[in-house]
Amino acid sequence: MSNPTLLILAGDGIGPEVMNEVKRIITWYGDKRDMPFDISEDLVGGCAYDKHGTPLHDDTMAKAQEVDAVLLGAVGGPKYDDLDFSVKPERGLLRLRKEMDLFSNLRPAQCFDALADFSSLKRDIVAGLDIMIVRELTSGVYFGEPRGIHLEGNERVGINTQRYTESEIARVARSAFELARRRSNRVCSMEKANVMESGVLWRQVVTEIHEKEYADVELSHMYADNGAMQLVRNPKQFDVIVTDNLFGDLLSDAAAMLTGSLGMLPSASLGLPMANGRPKALYEPVHGSAPDITGQGKANPIACILSFAMALRYSFDAGAEADRLEAAVEQVLADGARTADLLGPEGGSPISTTQMGDAILAALD
Ligand code: NAI
Ligand code: MG
Repeated sequence: MSNPTLLILAGDGIGPEVMNEVKRIITWYGDKRDMPFDISEDLVGGCAYDKHGTPLHDDTMAKAQEVDAVLLGAVGGPKYDDLDFSVKPERGLLRLRKEMDLFSNLRPAQCFDALADFSSLKRDIVAGLDIMIVRELTSGVYFGEPRGIHLEGNERVGINTQRYTESEIARVARSAFELARRRSNRVCSMEKANVMESGVLWRQVVTEIHEKEYADVELSHMYADNGAMQLVRNPKQFDVIVTDNLFGDLLSDAAAMLTGSLGMLPSASLGLPMANGRPKALYEPVHGSAPDITGQGKANPIACILSFAMALRYSFDAGAEADRLEAAVEQVLADGARTADLLGPEGGSPISTTQMGDAILAALD
């Protein structure tokens, strides 16, 4: 059998720095766990623009469609701020998401015990927190028509349209129920069915899919504004939350910050299954290219490393290996390893990006 394939797009800024540590971990899995991957590397974002005049070359797009999973670092930076909108680094990432049809965006909010004091909430509210927000990523108000700004009389009017089809809701609901079955079997669906027709349809479709296909999973519904409140009041009441593009954007950012640093947050974006049964998939840290610390060895590689752990779990059916990697991260944090972003107000001496990679590799050994 041929090895699973990975396309690595390290991108700009700290992207290549954090991706270097991931590459060492991938090598470790090949050497020590007999899990070799066939890796190819390519450009995305500003670096692709510098070389090709476009943030994502067609050949790179074609490769992304063929591999079992794409791992991305980060794109963008001040050098590219004045570029035309059509060739901005972010457009490369948006094109990947769009053409791979990655409709299910998984954002875990997990609180490592060693970092619980980092949260803006009290330790006992967040310690041990492990929830997953599933955000619909390819439809909703960010894409719906009509949209734009026009004149009505002598007044400007801005319009965006929340639009969801039944099948768009159904596929992201299935993705959330599947996930819940691998976790503690609970899904909470959030919308505003009290004031939005698209929310009424959302609730109907999620309920129908649940009854027909996932009756074994516990389903609840919540209005998204109450959901925001509950997330900061008692986040541990949730396991999997499924919601639309706009609410998911807000709720996942809020949930993420319950757990501390941006340098810790992974994500996965999944699409429909390919011929081999694996979903189309792109894994990336939540953070950006961090131009303020680029080239200084300060970047925390953990978000990118945990994104690879998600790849092991969701693309390569290697949940036990993902657990192993997450446990190694937990271990080094418990031992006190801290990149600069993880130092509290009391300070301490930070380790570098590479030293964090070293520590995680040592813990894996
Ligand atoms: P950012 O996430 O790059 O940085 C925000 C702050 O967090 C900075 O102070 C940075 O030093 C820190 N930070 C981020 N990741 C870190 C890590 N791994 N370790 C330690 N500290 C870390 O967001 P910002 O500053 O708003 O954007 C910078 C550039 O990145 C912009 O060009 C933006 O468009 C792009 N960006 C790209 C994203 C992506 O590739 N998915 C997402 C967000 C922003
Ligand atoms: Mg956001």
